[in-house]
Amino acid sequence: MAVQINPSILSADFARLAEEARTVEGADWLHVDVMDNHFVPNLTLGVPVVESLARATDTPLDCHLMIEAPDRWAPQYVEAGASSVTFHAEAAAAPVRLAREIRAKGARASMALKPATPIEPYEDLLPELDMLLIMTVEPGFGGQAFLDIMLPKIRRTRQLIGKHGLDLWLQVDGGVSASTIERCAEAGADVFVAGSAVYGAEDPAAAVRALRARAENVTAGASWAGDH
Ligand code: DX5
Ligand code: ZN
Repeated sequence: MAVQINPSILSADFARLAEEARTVEGADWLHVDVMDNHFVPNLTLGVPVVESLARATDTPLDCHLMIEAPDRWAPQYVEAGASSVTFHAEAAAAPVRLAREIRAKGARASMALKPATPIEPYEDLLPELDMLLIMTVEPGFGGQAFLDIMLPKIRRTRQLIGKHGLDLWLQVDGGVSASTIERCAEAGADVFVAGSAVYGAEDPAAAVRALRARAENVTAGASWAGDH
């Protein structure tokens, strides 16, 4: 899979979301952080905003649900227009059933792991997923420092993907910037979420291009990177 850059609108101006989406038109996906003030100590947006945003942009929406009871709510985000829906392993009661339901409704199914959640217990579930998200900060806020201690987990996950011959995207989220993206790519990530590094830049579209170039430089030679 080629490198993908997903700007997180958490760092955008929420009063001008449609416009902010357009400023990063070269991006592969728009990353939409849904927070419920329970699973994480922050509150952002929900189904109606996703519905409006899906109508306002041609860039597909990658919804990251940092919420409790995703089994109950995640399918509504597919109906609202999300093309990829990520639930947290720590919050899902029945991750296999939920992933199947998301896929059956027509979106890509993805599961996220907080920093303290290991990948190993989920090895057998990986074929049920289209993407795995490894959090590189504690979820809840943009602009936090990248956790280098997550690099071994990214490496081990990339090995598991290879071992099972899966077509599974490996996303990283949190503190991804020009100074950390190469380490993530080197460890095996191929989908990169960046909030403050994109929307905090003077030219967000240029920031997306620069991040992509850095990641592609590293992954060009990687055996898992496949055809570009
Ligand atoms: C954090 C969110 C991230 C956030 C990343 O819990 O899941 O998507 O927007 O922001 P940066 O890139 O600034 O760390
Ligand atoms: Zn996120």
